[in-house]
Amino acid sequence: MSCINRNEVPKRAPGAQLGKAIRTVLLSTALLAPAFSAGADEAKPSLRLCADPTNLPFSSDDPGKPGLYLEIGQAVAQKLGRTVSTNWYKSYFGKRTVRETLLSKQCDAMVGLPLIDDFMGPAVIFSKPITHEGYALVGARDRKLAGIDDLRGLRVAVQYQSTPQNLLALRDDIQKVTVLSPEQGMAALNQGKVDIAFIWAPVAGWLNKTSYGDEYQIVATEGDGLLWATAIGFAKASGALRDEVDGVLPSLQPEISALFAKYGAPNGAPVKFGQAAPATTSSVGASEPVTVGQAPAAEKPLQTAATTGDVKGDAKGDATAGREVFNGTCAHCHGPDAVQAERKIDLRLLKKRYSDDMESTYWKTVHDGRPAKGMPAWKDVFSDDELRNVYVYLQSVQDTGGSN
Ligand code: HEC
Repeated sequence: MSCINRNEVPKRAPGAQLGKAIRTVLLSTALLAPAFSAGADEAKPSLRLCADPTNLPFSSDDPGKPGLYLEIGQAVAQKLGRTVSTNWYKSYFGKRTVRETLLSKQCDAMVGLPLIDDFMGPAVIFSKPITHEGYALVGARDRKLAGIDDLRGLRVAVQYQSTPQNLLALRDDIQKVTVLSPEQGMAALNQGKVDIAFIWAPVAGWLNKTSYGDEYQIVATEGDGLLWATAIGFAKASGALRDEVDGVLPSLQPEISALFAKYGAPNGAPVKFGQAAPATTSSVGASEPVTVGQAPAAEKPLQTAATTGDVKGDAKGDATAGREVFNGTCAHCHGPDAVQAERKIDLRLLKKRYSDDMESTYWKTVHDGRPAKGMPAWKDVFSDDELRNVYVYLQSVQDTGGSN
């Protein structure tokens, strides 16, 4: 893989696609839709929405382009005979945002929270689903994009620490290019650096519409961690309001669908993608569906088996063979030749970081992985001989200079 904009530090935490999805927020007094208040029952308090002022296509403080979530909120409020007020709050961190806004009573509702079991425990309650959001394949209009195998031989942009990245990590026949945001993915596509961008759909749709003249087709995907329902979230104590909103949502569905179309969201039937890819060729390590932060259930990539077979038993290990394993598999996340701008996963820093514990840390991490952090377990994928070769290779590229 290559990494575009190596020098740019990711601004988003793991799971930030979700985080960004829910970067709606709160707290100011701006009356977004004064028109709605005319003739409304003045006795009803306004519906206070939390929203991010700079998060199109979801929300913005530009009254000409309020964004999906605010427009949905406005439509709901109008049905309830209320005005809308918006509490602006900027945050990259979804759950923290929810805690500091919705759960601190800064607003009544947040549109677009992921309807995931146990999203924030019982503290947050949800409306009925309003839509589905997730990842999409973006590519030239004449390209066939009906399943994962249509990506074979192509260069595919995936967002750092996203489900698509995990999903494709073990496909040696698909070249991954890690990007840090959907914006970067679209730019890479437009600049011809990749053939496909497998990125967050609503943003892809919005950019396609507003920046790329609708040049691309956008195919929604479906599978674990690729597509989820979203809803309107409320604090637990707001059950009555939630029920009121649920009462009007069904009649708003056509309007909500129209809003998604207006903001460019893909509306075709999603392609099933997260399911275990049918292993149609033997050279492919089929990927199980994975969600962000889970380790892919890996099959051994055959390419590496072939290149390392002859070094088995070499107790010292073979850096050349290790490098091949590394670049065939680990490089998808850690960078080709372990060159990686993101320090946390820069494996050239292992020695500096762990000094005498470097080797034990290496073995523990590669054997068991750190599934919650997006590092897969490799002990069922590679033999210890192969992993030793990788270790020997990594030793040969440790950063020894300077004080960083
Ligand atoms: C799907 C992405 C992915 C792949 C593929 C991957 N890793 Fe990792 N790896 C990570 C992430 C993310 C972390 C950081 C985990 C954390 O934050 O603690 C990590 C951490 C590590 C660490 C510990 C780094 C430290 O400073 O603590 C080692 C060692 C490591 N990986 C080795 C490997 C090797 C060897 C391979 C190939 C066999 C590999 N990784 C493949 C994602 C990946």
